[in-house]
Amino acid sequence: MGAVKRVLVTGGAGFIGVHTVRLLVADGFTVLVVDDLRHACGEPLPPNVDLTAADLNSSAAAGAVAHFRPDAILHLAAQGGVSRSVRDPAGDALVNVLGTVAFLKASADVGCRRFVFASSGGAIYGRAARLPTSERTTPRPLSPYGAAKLAAEGYLGVFARTFKLRTLALRYSNVYGPFQDGTGEAGVVAITCERLLSGRAPVIRGDGQQTRDFVFVADVADANLRALRSRVSGAMNIGTGVASSVRTVVDELVAAATYHGSVDFVEAPPGEVRDTALDTRRAAKLLEWRAPTQLRDGLRQTFTSFRERARHATAPASAAPAGTEARPGRGSPAGSG
Ligand SMILES: NC(=O)c1ccc[n+]([C@@H]2O[C@H](COP(=O)([O-])OP(=O)(O)OC[C@H]3O[C@@H](n4cnc5c(N)ncnc54)[C@H](O)[C@@H]3O)[C@@H](O)[C@H]2O)c1
Repeated sequence: MGAVKRVLVTGGAGFIGVHTVRLLVADGFTVLVVDDLRHACGEPLPPNVDLTAADLNSSAAAGAVAHFRPDAILHLAAQGGVSRSVRDPAGDALVNVLGTVAFLKASADVGCRRFVFASSGGAIYGRAARLPTSERTTPRPLSPYGAAKLAAEGYLGVFARTFKLRTLALRYSNVYGPFQDGTGEAGVVAITCERLLSGRAPVIRGDGQQTRDFVFVADVADANLRALRSRVSGAMNIGTGVASSVRTVVDELVAAATYHGSVDFVEAPPGEVRDTALDTRRAAKLLEWRAPTQLRDGLRQTFTSFRERARHATAPASAAPAGTEARPGRGSPAGSG
C-alpha cells in the first residue's frame, strides 16, 4: 500500500467529520466528502474540499467513489441516535449496516485498500464485566444501534479476509466538543451547553453518578488521521480510559457558565449502562495515539465555542463576520454513540 493521499470521508459534514476533514486538509490530504447533509453540523468545510451530497445507499455515492478513486475511505456517516434505533431498528440498519456494506463494496470495486470505520465502544460492549474494557471483550450490545455497529464490523472482517481490504473499526467512547448537536436526545455535554446558554437548568438523567469515558473531538480526529495512515486492522478502542461521572461534567459546565441556578434530575432511561471506560492500550501501542486533552480543558473549550456560536446566531446579519454561513437545519436527533 502506497502513501495515503486521497481520502474519501463519508459523514464529513457531521460533528466528528468536520473536525477530521479540517485536520486532514491541514495535513496535506486531498479530501472528498460524501454526506447527504441530513445531520450536518453547519460548520463550513475547507474551500478546497468537494462535497457529493448523496445518500450512502445511492448510485451517486458509489459513483463518487469510482470517480474519486480514493487511497482510503473514512466511513463516519451513520444514523447516530441510540433511542432512534430502538424506535426504528430497520431504518437504523438501512444506514448503519447496508450503507456500510455499500461502501465496502464500492471500495473493493475501485481497488481502494484502506477502510476505517467509526464504530462505538459505548454501544458495542453492553454491560461489560471489566472496566476499562478491552477489545478482547465479547461485544453484547443492548441497542439496535450497537447491534448494527457490530454487524458492520462483521462485514469489515469479511471484506478483509475475502477481498483483501485493510479494514479497521475504531470503537469511539463518548465523543464531545465544539459543533456537536445539543438539540437532540443524547450527548450530555452539548445538551448541557445548549441549555445553559438558553437560560434553562441543566438536566441529569438518573443520579448523575453513572460514568462515561469522555473523549475530546480533536483527539478523535487525530486518531482518525493516524488510523488512515496505518496498516492496523481489526478493532481498536478510542477513548481516554478514564471514567468520569455525568455529575462532574455538568458541574464543570455550570462553573464555565457561571450559572447559579438549580440542576434538575429526571429518571434515567431504562436499560442504560451504568459505567463505561475503554482500555486504549492497543491504540497507544499500534497508532502511538493517546487522548491528551484533559476533561476540564475540553469542556471549557466546548462551552466557549457554543457561546461564540450562540452569539453569532443572535447577532444581526450585518454584524456577522465575513465568510460565515447559515447553519443548515438538523433533520434528526443527535446521538452520542
Ligand atoms: N459522537 C459520538 O460520541 C460517537 C461515539 C461513537 C461512535 N460514533 C460514530 O461516529 C460517526 C460520526 O458521528 P458524529 O457524532 O459525527 O455524527 P453526526 O450525526 O454529527 O454526523 C454524521 C454525518 O453523517 C451524515 N449521514 C447520516 N446518514 C447518512 C446517509 N444515509 N447518507 C449520507 N450521509 C449520511 C449526516 O448528514 C452527518 O453529517 C458515526 O458513525 C457515529 O455512529 C460517534
